[in-house]
Amino acid sequence: MSDKQDWVIETKNLTRIYGDGDQIRALDDVNLRIAPGELVAVMGPSGSGKSTLLNVIGALDVPTTGQVLINGQDLSDLKDKDVFRAKTVGFVFQLHNLLPTLTARENVEVPMAGYASAKEKARRSKELLELVGLGDRMKHLPGQLSGGQRQRVAVARALANNPRLILADEPTGSLDSTSGQELMALVREINHTQGTTFLVVTHDLTVSKQTNRIIVMQDGRITREDRIGSPLEEDLKMWRYSGLGKKLVNEDVESLKQIGMTKKRMRSLRKFLLEFGSDR
Ligand SMILES: Nc1ncnc2c1ncn2[C@@H]1O[C@H](COP(=O)(O)OP(=O)(O)OP(=O)(O)O)[C@@H](O)[C@H]1O
Ligand SMILES: [Mg+2]
Repeated sequence: MSDKQDWVIETKNLTRIYGDGDQIRALDDVNLRIAPGELVAVMGPSGSGKSTLLNVIGALDVPTTGQVLINGQDLSDLKDKDVFRAKTVGFVFQLHNLLPTLTARENVEVPMAGYASAKEKARRSKELLELVGLGDRMKHLPGQLSGGQRQRVAVARALANNPRLILADEPTGSLDSTSGQELMALVREINHTQGTTFLVVTHDLTVSKQTNRIIVMQDGRITREDRIGSPLEEDLKMWRYSGLGKKLVNEDVESLKQIGMTKKRMRSLRKFLLEFGSDR
């Protein structure tokens, strides 16, 4: 995949420096490539540059040096950033940012203003609210919805113009764990069924474990990347680091014998664990 067209997101030596005296390197030489259809989590401590990265990728902020390419298009060459933001990317923030005086349906229609006819807006907003499970809440104002429902409206709004990429900054950050799980289930469903690429900033491991890849940032740099395997592989990885898993991997024959395990079984379980439960 060397052709630049193959990446939904590609950053090259991206830096974003704030201030002139005591300079803060919010992004420090970030090189990132995200393929179509990936669902990627960005983690890292507070102040490590996660929001800055999302803002620069979404053309809400400009890099100090370096490049951002979205679907092969260099953002510094963009003629109209508003069109880019409306059509190519969708945003979901920790606080949904819905307009309080508009209904759920009207909120979803906002990004379509100027890009679709009234009829098309009505059709699409209904379709999207049904997709996020809120077909029966279309006329509700944000204040009449639960936090999780509001965040689902925000997801529907992000999808309004059918963008290939959605940038989400702590979308579950203000939700309880059940609503957070439901939101992530929705994100995964959209990722699967529509092929939408997602970059999701989160502090929550239960959220990031549901993605394909975790990027960890520290001091404006990407310091670590983990690919997430299938649920079976992930469970085996957990098992490998459990008490029993460690005994198997370390060939602790004595204590395994004590719990009645035969040598043959030890060998086959150990082989299985090492083959499928290891970090790649
Ligand atoms: N507009 C700004 N002006 C000056 N410094 C800023 C600005 N925005 C962010 N910073 C600094 O840049 C660094 C990265 O901030 P950023 O908001 O990207 O962190 P973050 O990883 O999203 O943190 P959090 O998890 O707390 O949201 C921080 O040190 C922050 O103080
Ligand atoms: Mg942030």
